[in-house]
Amino acid sequence: MTDRELLNLAKEASENAYAPYSRFKVGAALECMDGRIFTGCNIENGALGSTMCAERVAIYKAVSEGEKHFSRIAIYGEGEEYCLPCGACRQVMGEFSQDMEVLCARGSGGYVSYRLKELLPHPFKFGNF
Ligand code: THU
Repeated sequence: MTDRELLNLAKEASENAYAPYSRFKVGAALECMDGRIFTGCNIENGALGSTMCAERVAIYKAVSEGEKHFSRIAIYGEGEEYCLPCGACRQVMGEFSQDMEVLCARGSGGYVSYRLKELLPHPFKFGNF
């Protein structure tokens, strides 16, 4: 799958976002090492802290289906800024795949690409695990 195809899936997923509070729709498309794809969108809650980001929805869907090794994630957010993952999502990505690629698109067009290591060079690690 090309970057562009993965980004299109992320954009499509953003259409399912439940974002009545921020009105900021985000979509993610996660590619696993074996080629399976999982998508996610942000799901907000009136108790704002219970909101979940699109990236983590996609990752948790994948892990709950037995996938733990990821090659790429595409993220799409409306607007003029490239949609980069928040700190919590970076940490969750790093739990599974420190070397994955992170493609970040914006509503006004184009995308930028990073390795997770660039975005989270010094992750928290739990003891000797
Ligand atoms: N959001 C994501 O889905 N992913 C991120 O990496 C950052 C933020 C969502 C959460 C919330 O619904 C909206 O964007 C505004 O913060």
